[in-house]
Amino acid sequence: MASEELVVKCVNVRKVYMLGKVAVEALRGVNMEVRYGEFIAIMGPSGSGKTTLLNIIGTLDRPTTGKVYIDGQDITPLSDRELTELRRRKIGFVFQFYNLIPTLTALENVELPMQIAGVNFREARERAMKLLEIVGLKERMHHRPDELSGGEQQRVAIARALANRPSIILADEPTGDLDSKTGMEIIELLYRLSREEHVTVIVATHDPMVANFADRILLLKDGVIKGEKRPKR
Ligand SMILES: Nc1ncnc2c1ncn2[C@@H]1O[C@H](COP(=O)(O)OP(=O)(O)O)[C@@H](O)[C@H]1O
Ligand SMILES: [Mg+2]
Repeated sequence: MASEELVVKCVNVRKVYMLGKVAVEALRGVNMEVRYGEFIAIMGPSGSGKTTLLNIIGTLDRPTTGKVYIDGQDITPLSDRELTELRRRKIGFVFQFYNLIPTLTALENVELPMQIAGVNFREARERAMKLLEIVGLKERMHHRPDELSGGEQQRVAIARALANRPSIILADEPTGDLDSKTGMEIIELLYRLSREEHVTVIVATHDPMVANFADRILLLKDGVIKGEKRPKR
């Protein structure tokens, strides 16, 4: 498939971490292609390389060898500064432990990435309020993270991830800290938003229930994609 039809393309991506003199091969030649608007699950046991792969797609980390294309652009030759800029414009992150700023309210947490991107105060406030309403937290927007439940904090994190209208949301074990009912609500929300906001979502998970929401499930094992499944739903 031509690269320009793909939002993400990884070609033979390898990642070697050096622990002292010991080389740890976290990724051993990953090839994957994601089309615009797809909801993808990367499933694999702990240590299989899910976080490493998301961090490389999200430009937080660089591959040791191999190529990564985002929106058809080879990002491997970009400088750190260019990567930061690309990340700010195109990528939203959702983490297992929410990673909200504890001293800021929900509203301020969602506004922050827009302020960093230079969006003016009023526009940032309006969009943050709208996003919090979309994720069902209109009544909670002036609360700080420690005044919110885990599920509510993850909703704030999802609103924050959408703030700068990214093309891709990368969610690393987004339900890992939640009970299964709340986890399902979070995945349903991500799924709905991926459709409504036309954003591509890539979720790393070891939970088959979560993976079942995806359009495609990529099976990662020992740093390689071993196969692909369609969910049964
Ligand atoms: N910063 C690091 N330094 C050294 N080894 C690492 C580092 N990050 C991950 N690893 C190793 O790479 C492998 C894949 O880790 P990771 O991507 O976190 O897997 P997963 O998210 O699927 O649990 C593991 O063996 C892990 O110990
Ligand atoms: Mg991980």
